[in-house]
Amino acid sequence: MSKKTAIVLAAGLGTRMKSARPKVLHETAGVSMISRVVSHLQKAGVQEIRVVVGFGAEQVEQALSTFSGVKFFKQQKQKGTGDAVKSAQVDSLTGTVMICNGDHPLITDEDYAEAWAGFEGQDLVVVSATVKNPAGFGRIVRGASGDLLRIVEEKDASAQEKKISEINTGLYVAKAEVLKKYIPLIKNNNAKGEFYLTDIITMTIQDKLKTKAVKAKRARVARGVNNKWELAQAGKVLFVRKAKELMEDGVTIIDPTTTYIETSVKVGKETVIEPGCMIKGKTIIGEGVTIEGHCQIVDSVIADGAHIKWGTLIDKSEVGKKALVGPYARLRPETKLEEEVHIGNFVELKKTVMGARAKANHLTYLGDAEIGEETNIGCGTITCNYAVDRKKYKTKIGKKVFVGSDTQFIAPIEIGDGAVIGSGSTITKDVPARALAVTRAKQLNRENYNKE
Ligand code: UD1
Ligand code: CA
Repeated sequence: MSKKTAIVLAAGLGTRMKSARPKVLHETAGVSMISRVVSHLQKAGVQEIRVVVGFGAEQVEQALSTFSGVKFFKQQKQKGTGDAVKSAQVDSLTGTVMICNGDHPLITDEDYAEAWAGFEGQDLVVVSATVKNPAGFGRIVRGASGDLLRIVEEKDASAQEKKISEINTGLYVAKAEVLKKYIPLIKNNNAKGEFYLTDIITMTIQDKLKTKAVKAKRARVARGVNNKWELAQAGKVLFVRKAKELMEDGVTIIDPTTTYIETSVKVGKETVIEPGCMIKGKTIIGEGVTIEGHCQIVDSVIADGAHIKWGTLIDKSEVGKKALVGPYARLRPETKLEEEVHIGNFVELKKTVMGARAKANHLTYLGDAEIGEETNIGCGTITCNYAVDRKKYKTKIGKKVFVGSDTQFIAPIEIGDGAVIGSGSTITKDVPARALAVTRAKQLNRENYNKE
């Protein structure tokens, strides 16, 4: 087996994205277009990947730094696809080489593998597709016998040629020798004054090399992204693709068209996800979890059997086994709920650990806090963690503490195991284990006060 190398063209600015970010770094379903291309190429067995960078080169290199086997080549000026390939130092290529675009996020390893398969016995293969609207693409011109003659770009095409619906997808496979010989011969005598990669096809055909256009099995091969509308359309396809994969693994998704699960997310079987959820990043969801509608979960871990109720936001947090969270709860970064914790409506937690079976069921803010097992936090409790010196202080509450409703803890503060805090207290001093603390003012009743 000869060596497989891929050259990924990613130097373009992507003017129509109207963005300072390099086009290939725009994300669909949570992953940048270029990362998708690179990971699918690797899955298809490509050993070396040469990415041609230009606009925002440093950012693109940074975004791909986690991949091994990726090299970067800078194209100084965007003078066309032929010049881009030339920038990838064709002289040092061996074996077979795939050339592809960095802005086709829907292509999979299967499509790449099919292109390699279509290359069997050939010198140069271009992957084509028949599309409803060929505008903007290079057209595949075939002779009377159906043989490939050349590729003509939209701007250089005659009215007759513009009617051709078979287009160049921008995916090619060639012998390294072919690229070494013909890439340096490309000229820029065309309507755009660019060096067209497609010109090598005319040359190899003239020289009687085995050159073919092979039709892609799936239309997605042709779907590049040039603007934000196309980016969103690609996203839709990818979200549905992800939902389908999860459902095949036993996850129940009530409505896959309104459930947005990013590609990187993992979900265990027997989990149910209701409509309107957005689950992002490095999130890992266990088995038998229920996630009710309209929850947003980002970079978090949800253990088996947990139940996340309607409208809850969870960010960079951990939810333990069989915990109950929501509706309308908010877990901010570094929150950790141990098993069977209950967090109810309008409860906000930040950098807070709740021990097993602890509860905070209503209207509460717990920030920079540690709460022991089986402690009950009453309705309307607030940890006052932010002081006038603009620093954050900790609240430590032991096990089996009973916190009455409408309590404020002025941090830093520590409450011993089994303590009882009377409702409506403002706690400014530590409370020993099993003690009762109340700071309520005595009630005064003035008879006949209201004269109406
Ligand atoms: C190209 C093809 C066209 C094909 C279409 C498929 C040529 C001449 N035309 O046209 O036949 O139908 O792709 O999408 O090849 N790039 C660089 N450096 C450059 C120019 C482009 O890296 O100097 C990169 C772009 O970032 C992009 C890719 O090459 O990823 C394709 O370039 P683009 O300008 O989109 O080519 P098209 O005109 O669409
Ligand atoms: Ca394009």
